Amino acid sequence: MAYETLIVDIKDHIALIRLNRPDALNALNSTMMAELAKALTEADRNEKVRAIVLTGSDKAFAAGADIKEMSDKGFVDMFEADFFTPETEAMLRVRKPIIAAVSGYALGGGCELAMICDFIIASDTAKFGQPEINLGVVAGIGGTQRLTRFVGKSKAMDMHLTGRFMDAEEAERSGLVSRVVPVKKLLDTAMEAADKIAEKSQVTVKVVKEAVNRSYETTLREGLLFERRVFHMLFNTEDQKEGMAAFLEKREAQFRDR
Ligand code: HXC
Repeated sequence: MAYETLIVDIKDHIALIRLNRPDALNALNSTMMAELAKALTEADRNEKVRAIVLTGSDKAFAAGADIKEMSDKGFVDMFEADFFTPETEAMLRVRKPIIAAVSGYALGGGCELAMICDFIIASDTAKFGQPEINLGVVAGIGGTQRLTRFVGKSKAMDMHLTGRFMDAEEAERSGLVSRVVPVKKLLDTAMEAADKIAEKSQVTVKVVKEAVNRSYETTLREGLLFERRVFHMLFNTEDQKEGMAAFLEKREAQFRDR
């Protein structure tokens, strides 16, 4: 499927989705958001795909929502369009893991998009920010909520109120990103992480994603109960038998996603 604003490549078991509006530093316009929701949904449905990598260019993951597209809109336009909500809801329904491979700018909606993914691997040139305040607005697809949960209130307030950027080292130290690698190694590292995930039982992978995400949505007590139940439940899968037998027999597990 050809897209106007994305390059999508299915390599072995990995769907690699690249944001591709180089002239606008991958600013997220309506076309790109609709295409991204579609590409992610299709990758989720594609039985061959076992993990997804979302990336941009060396210079920009995405420099935010497209300011040119938004600037003349009024409240009713944004409200009636429910601006970017259906697209982000579709992304959140994806059950397969999505790794954000971030180099360069991840600002505003770009930072928020990276945080919608399951984890972020950053290049040493990555810069994260929520500079919406400079435009007289606020984050709109999760930045005030997700950044606060990632890095805590003090840093989130600092980022949202001053509009300053956070470099990769600070982002790793603060828990926003899982690892930082040299820019030349970014895509290989993200693809290797996706390959590792692709080797696992896809039943277990989906359960892990659900359980970790549950920690954002519920109390500790309910989250612990959910974890305990899915842990017990997995003892009813062939892949649990295979995984534990393989360990005891000192061999690699051959998971069948059953
Ligand atoms: C539209 C953008 C853009 C954006 C960059 N461009 N960011 N166009 N929307 N968010 C365009 C520029 O207009 C320019 O096009 C080209 O990309 C290159 O950008 P420059 O500014 O010339 O590059 P540089 O000097 O290197 O500066 C890079 C930058 C700066 C620091 C990233 O571009 C910048 O501050 N961008 C805006 C970042 C931002 O405020 N993001 C938050 C947006 S609001 P031309 O045609 O002039 O060459 C948001 C809300 C989310 O994200 C809520 C969602 C619902």
